[in-house]
Amino acid sequence: MDLMDALRTRRALREFTGGLVDDVTIEELVGAAVLAPSAVNLQPWAFAVVRGTERLRALSAEARRYALAHLPAGSPLATHVADPAFEIFHGAAVLVVICAINGETQSFEDCCLAGQNFMLAAHAKGLGTCWIGLSRAWLNDPSVKSELGIPADWHPTAPIILGHPLTLPAPTPREKARIVWCQ
Ligand SMILES: Cc1cc2nc3c(=O)[nH]c(=O)nc-3n(C[C@H](O)[C@H](O)[C@H](O)COP(=O)(O)O)c2cc1C
Repeated sequence: MDLMDALRTRRALREFTGGLVDDVTIEELVGAAVLAPSAVNLQPWAFAVVRGTERLRALSAEARRYALAHLPAGSPLATHVADPAFEIFHGAAVLVVICAINGETQSFEDCCLAGQNFMLAAHAKGLGTCWIGLSRAWLNDPSVKSELGIPADWHPTAPIILGHPLTLPAPTPREKARIVWCQ
């Protein structure tokens, strides 16, 4: 897929067929993620992979309860999160959590770049992804890391769901970019 086409046509996917994604494919996507640039080439990322729609459904319920208890007052997400039927992981087959493995100041940015690579590579393979920022605080809770087997000194940064798209959503609008041509 042409890069500009990939950039234009990638969408946040929230409806999946339920079909599994095999481990080889997940490893290929991780291979694309680690091609991202990183500050001082430290490559400060690691990947925690949760597989299985039913497992993710159960974790969605946990994450939703956590989000409900921790949302800031007046959050526009409150109505969604209060609905017991709301699935934070949208019925996906896989959750890949890109974690910063050190406390360097730019590791967070590095993991975000790896996340974009991951999502574009998935799109090029006909798979769908969505970054689930709503789950990040929950994933960073020590008890959740322990439950999932994520090492205590990893910092979950980019939670991305992955699966086979049920439908391709319409493009989301973009505002005209604000540019200042500096002196
Ligand atoms: C940092 C970040 C956090 C996001 N968190 C969520 C989320 O918690 N749940 C969700 O359904 N989508 C989430 N999204 C997806 C955005 O809503 C989506 O990317 C945006 O609406 C633009 O649509 P597009 O990706 O199809 O262009 C997140 C995206 C980013 C980049």
